[in-house]
Amino acid sequence: MTVGAAILAVTAMVSGTVGPVLAAGGEDTIKMRVQHMKAGIAKPFGVAKAFVTKGTGTAADVAKMTRALPKIWEDWAGFEASAKVLADEAAKLATVAATGDAAAIKAQFAMVGKNGCGGCHKVYRGDKVK
Ligand code: HEC
Repeated sequence: MTVGAAILAVTAMVSGTVGPVLAAGGEDTIKMRVQHMKAGIAKPFGVAKAFVTKGTGTAADVAKMTRALPKIWEDWAGFEASAKVLADEAAKLATVAATGDAAAIKAQFAMVGKNGCGGCHKVYRGDKVK
């Protein structure tokens, strides 16, 4: 897959999967975070694209501006699989939210964070950028 297609895939995946949950839960904080994350991933993709297609910048430029680990590009299928976990947990949350059961919503919300967000971060997100 080209880097351009990858950006589209990530963007589609994030907006497509989290959108319905936001509509159900009205969680502005999550929305903000996801926006932040989209920018966090899309921006390094842009730098990576310039590096790959135009030969500008260096691999180090790509690495230093992001907490996104090179593992994402080395293991794209795994990264997509992690995104799918988020999608599945988010879909479950939407279902649970429709029942109006507060305790169940809270429990599933925690699962989204733990498995969906955390599962990917643990593997593909590096140390804080200084
Ligand atoms: C498929 C992988 C994946 C999933 C799923 C994922 N993230 Fe991330 N997230 C990343 C990566 C990679 C970064 C580092 C991006 C960067 O710094 O350039 C990141 C960065 C972030 C940041 C930016 C702050 C920081 O740590 O630098 C926030 C906030 C964030 N994620 C929140 C979330 C939330 C909330 C969810 C679940 C709704 C989530 N993420 C799900 C991969 C993921």
